Amino acid sequence: MDFGAQYAQLIARRVREARVYSEIVPHTMPVEEILAKRPKAIILSGGPSSVYAEGAPQLGREIFDAGIPVFGICYGFQAMALALGGTVANTGLREYGRTPLTVTKQGSTLFEGTPDEQSVWMSHGDACSAAPEGFTVTATTERAPVAAFENNEARLYGVQYHPEVLHSTHGQQLLEHFLYRGAGLGPSWTTHNVVEESVEAIRAQVGSKRVVCGLSGGVDSAVAAALVQKAVGDQLTCVFVDHGLLRKGEAEQVEKDFVAATGVQLKVVDAQERFLDALAGATDPEEKRKIIGREFIRVFERAAAEVVAEAGAHGEQVEFLVQGTLYPDVVESGGGTGTANIKSHHNVGGLPEDLQFQLVEPLRRLFKDEVRKVGEELGLPSEIVWRQPFPGPGLGIRIIGEVTGERLDLLREADAIAREELTTAGLDREIWQCPVVLLADVRSVGVQGDGRTYGHPVVLRPVSSEDAMTADWSRLPYDVLAKISTRITNEVPDVNRVVLDVTSKPPGTIEWE
Ligand code: XMP
Repeated sequence: MDFGAQYAQLIARRVREARVYSEIVPHTMPVEEILAKRPKAIILSGGPSSVYAEGAPQLGREIFDAGIPVFGICYGFQAMALALGGTVANTGLREYGRTPLTVTKQGSTLFEGTPDEQSVWMSHGDACSAAPEGFTVTATTERAPVAAFENNEARLYGVQYHPEVLHSTHGQQLLEHFLYRGAGLGPSWTTHNVVEESVEAIRAQVGSKRVVCGLSGGVDSAVAAALVQKAVGDQLTCVFVDHGLLRKGEAEQVEKDFVAATGVQLKVVDAQERFLDALAGATDPEEKRKIIGREFIRVFERAAAEVVAEAGAHGEQVEFLVQGTLYPDVVESGGGTGTANIKSHHNVGGLPEDLQFQLVEPLRRLFKDEVRKVGEELGLPSEIVWRQPFPGPGLGIRIIGEVTGERLDLLREADAIAREELTTAGLDREIWQCPVVLLADVRSVGVQGDGRTYGHPVVLRPVSSEDAMTADWSRLPYDVLAKISTRITNEVPDVNRVVLDVTSKPPGTIEWE
């Protein structure tokens, strides 16, 4: 139950790391609705406010009287204490950050097997000063006399700190103790089971109808398509629009490796010329994005209509469109479960009203790292499964200036070199992504061999990030940067300078346009 915590998704992920399926519900959801989901255990998250603040989320007793094991964290812990008759006071003693915790009751369900002294991550102003009746205090800190409590009989537990963050040294163990011992759950949420369940669900939804899927070259659409293919085989047709703005080798990976790994029916539309023509003369970033988005929709729409028509000629109907929506998108859009006709789509854009599909969203319950595991389980090539995030408008927004065929070729080469060297250095999974940007309208003087050059700079933009909302520039080893720089200036004609972008986000965005 999410009380507005910045950590709610993190808690859900930690629970899943313990191989227990978890869903996030807003604290505003009526208790009956929550209970109707038949949860085997409930975790109350932290929240931004004091339990005494005006408009602070309230919690009644009902959720604790339902016989379901509950674990309260931070705000959830305080709300639990209050609801059950304990005392929460504004002590004026705040605790933020790393804090020493003393476990006062070894042998407790949650702390058993963890050290008497441990370091935990705190973030609170109010503190629980008396546990509710029937509860045992199991840990304290200097400023939180009741830093953890439990009532084993009622299977109710709580901690003031954040076990979900890595700074809480035994946090994951504590969560697992709640799930396994407190709630008696087993570690059954495995990738293998996820695949099996998804396949069943897709079959039940789609029946014998036909399905169309747009492949973007990215991991989400690839894994979604592979799951649907595993479920309904040849009822699926994938459409891949090659807009010519992908990186070196990526179109081939979709057309050859992905097809070989999945056996999917693929309709490739070579639209490279069309995109270049449409982009001619455009230099404004938003204009370029709009052109690419618009052309993409038109091309995809026509291809999808062809798939529909071909199916119709065989007396079949295409009723479903696959979409690679992930769980964080579902949570952020309010957790709705509707499967309305699509009007707008992250990757495919708004389809016209007369082309109506129902959505198949096999990744709706998954986090990105789980999607990758499913991709591996399905045998997809690791180049696809571990691909870095790549913007829909592709290299079109990494050429600062007009997009032309020659410029795309230059950028593709420079980008391929950077990627190759990062892979060789084993840095792929450490950085979030590394856009390579061609400053096509800038020239600088250089010297190569015995002659003067007057070429373009490229920018390396390596960033580290958790979710792309914020990012920091990656401190890549100098020798790796040197290797990339030397190779790009030697091997890519017309590029005579490599510069490093050392801007965090904010203020810079990750992409340059
Ligand atoms: P920015 O540049 O906004 O990028 O910091 C954040 C993340 O989003 C990616 N990105 C896009 N992805 N369509 C996408 O699917 C887009 O139009 C788009 N623009 C940016 C970017 O690569 C980064 O990971």
